[in-house]
Amino acid sequence: MAGAELRVGVIGCGRWAGWAHLPGWTRDERCSVVAVCDRDEGLVQAAADKFGVPEAATDHRRLIERDDIDVIDVVTGDEEHFTLTMAALEAGKHVLCEKPVAHDYRDTLRARDLAASKGLGTKVGFTFRYSPAIRYMKELINEGFVGEPYIYNAYEQNSQWIDPQTPLRQVPPAADSDRIMVSSLEGYGAPVIDLGHWFMASDLTSVVGVLRNFVPERMIRETGRMQRANIDDGDIFIGEFATGAICSVQSSFVTVGNYPGIEARVYGSKGALIARLVEEHGVAETLRSATPDAVEFEPVDVPQRLYPPGGSVHEPWPTLYYSNLTANFVDEILAGKENEGGFADAAWVQEVINAVERSHHERGWVSLPLEA
Ligand SMILES: NC(=O)c1ccc[n+]([C@@H]2O[C@H](COP(=O)([O-])OP(=O)(O)OC[C@H]3O[C@@H](n4cnc5c(N)ncnc54)[C@H](O)[C@@H]3O)[C@@H](O)[C@H]2O)c1
Repeated sequence: MAGAELRVGVIGCGRWAGWAHLPGWTRDERCSVVAVCDRDEGLVQAAADKFGVPEAATDHRRLIERDDIDVIDVVTGDEEHFTLTMAALEAGKHVLCEKPVAHDYRDTLRARDLAASKGLGTKVGFTFRYSPAIRYMKELINEGFVGEPYIYNAYEQNSQWIDPQTPLRQVPPAADSDRIMVSSLEGYGAPVIDLGHWFMASDLTSVVGVLRNFVPERMIRETGRMQRANIDDGDIFIGEFATGAICSVQSSFVTVGNYPGIEARVYGSKGALIARLVEEHGVAETLRSATPDAVEFEPVDVPQRLYPPGGSVHEPWPTLYYSNLTANFVDEILAGKENEGGFADAAWVQEVINAVERSHHERGWVSLPLEA
């Protein structure tokens, strides 16, 4: 695209890149996707053809070494996120990375610090921060609609892997195979933990939680076989914020319901707000509110300015939210807008995940912050 201000390279051309990232970048006049990369030659060529990208590479170093690329977007499987992110930051690129940046929050802190030392922007795929309903909910909270926020309650749940035959990426098992590994909490819990931090404007000081494996045997993508997978496919935790507020959060990918399957609720001294991000009957999301003198929840109209250009509540959620995410990152890089949903937020979210995991194994409350 002639005259684009930001040149973007996307690493990983699987499903999520095609559904969300590439539509987001290519919708924004200020960007040009100049290269895409995937180890799979067929996938990368198909993405280049579909989105009109000039270079299709199978080696990520081609993109990271190019001097004329400003932003590297990491949309590979989870295990490659951290090494690719660090390599891109070392090469002086702004980075958008899918969650998790790393499994250990201390690695995410290292990535945050490296980016800061080089003056580079970071963004994480906390998709639901960029939902119009969620953004309006945040504005209303900031304006005092809920008064003092007392309770945050949220879940992300859907049926994505309710059928054990649906292939799931392998989670490397622990040496002790009886030890359950984190999965849903990281994949599905992370976005709603992030929303709680943002809405409640406070850090958690302690958590207690439980991980469950409901579906013991499932199809593993890498092996193509039905195998024992001792992973958390459902979890719940409660937490205490520094302000005295409290929360309950749950996630699961084996529970009935449509995508993305989120509810986020804030109850306060003057009002309550409930955002429901569940695509139903062609409607992506709703926002409802109640006050002490009008306790029946009523629909709230979300202003058109919070939608991407040409967008509406009837647009499929991946492009609706991701177009806002990429545009927001472009605003931060080009206009110096204050960062949100970057590696600092990702490190905080990961620390909470690491604490809930520890709480499960120790069967007790865990204090935050964790010792480094
Ligand atoms: N934020 C969200 O709401 C959301 C939603 C869905 C998926 N995701 C995340 O997005 C990521 C991608 O998910 P997906 O479903 O597209 O997976 P996928 O397996 O379909 O695609 C990943 C692609 O990355 C490629 N790849 C891996 N390492 C590479 C490397 N070093 N160089 C080049 N290509 C490489 C693979 O060949 C594969 O095609 C995952 O981390 C997933 O958790 C996030």
